[in-house]
Amino acid sequence: MENPKLNAEAASKTITELTGIESVDMALTLGSGWAKAADLAGEELANIDASEVPGFHKTSVSGHTGKLRIMQLESGKKALVVGARTHLYEGHGVDSVAHGVLVSAAMGAKIMVLTNGAGGINEKWIAGQPVLISDHINLTASSPLKGANFVDLTDLYSSRIRKLALEVDPSLDSGVYVQFPGPHYETPAEVMMAKSIGGDIVGMSTAIEAIAARAAGMEVFGMSLITNLAAGIQKTPLSHQEVIDAGKMAEPKIAKLLAEIVNRL
Ligand code: HPA
Repeated sequence: MENPKLNAEAASKTITELTGIESVDMALTLGSGWAKAADLAGEELANIDASEVPGFHKTSVSGHTGKLRIMQLESGKKALVVGARTHLYEGHGVDSVAHGVLVSAAMGAKIMVLTNGAGGINEKWIAGQPVLISDHINLTASSPLKGANFVDLTDLYSSRIRKLALEVDPSLDSGVYVQFPGPHYETPAEVMMAKSIGGDIVGMSTAIEAIAARAAGMEVFGMSLITNLAAGIQKTPLSHQEVIDAGKMAEPKIAKLLAEIVNRL
């Protein structure tokens, strides 16, 4: 059987061979709209195609770069920037979804920053607004963990780091992220269900990665860019173009915000 941890260690070794860099302090997965944050956070030390590293799949989602970068942050710390997220809906299995996180852990990252573009359930929110993820509900019916691995998920999205983020921008709102399997968007009825069980944000990533990160001993921080109001909350149909456009519009603002936050970690 394939062992995800061994695969991640092999990938980490390849990254070290290709970049000459042995370890990082933290890692960032930059989803739709967030890619520019890395440029503002520090100086690039290395930039490789994820396809050169075992276990990463060619990205099928526009808005994802397919690059792995290592940045020297202004704080002096090093960050691995994973621009090659594999989503569950791509059909490569849950181990592939967790791979970027496990590689980050194998590179020594102690903090995993997960970002995404997502739909907002809260009617007060507008497209282009970043929100903190305070917790999640995993509706994918899958886990990145196998066997009797009973990992505690209390305070999964570190309250310590959320406090730091609020020092950078006290106006940030927060919410519970609900991961659906996708790739279709939710029906309005599913959005109402997500709301009634305590959800504020709907998306197709992050929760599974957060579980893998916690199991690997990392502290997790998550942010969503609200690219649209969720189906049925917004009255117009959803489109991927709308998600991309909202990401582009919000990019300068959220990149600066995230860069400031990661430099405090
Ligand atoms: N639902 C799920 N995923 C998303 C959405 C949404 O409304 N917007 C961007 N990603």
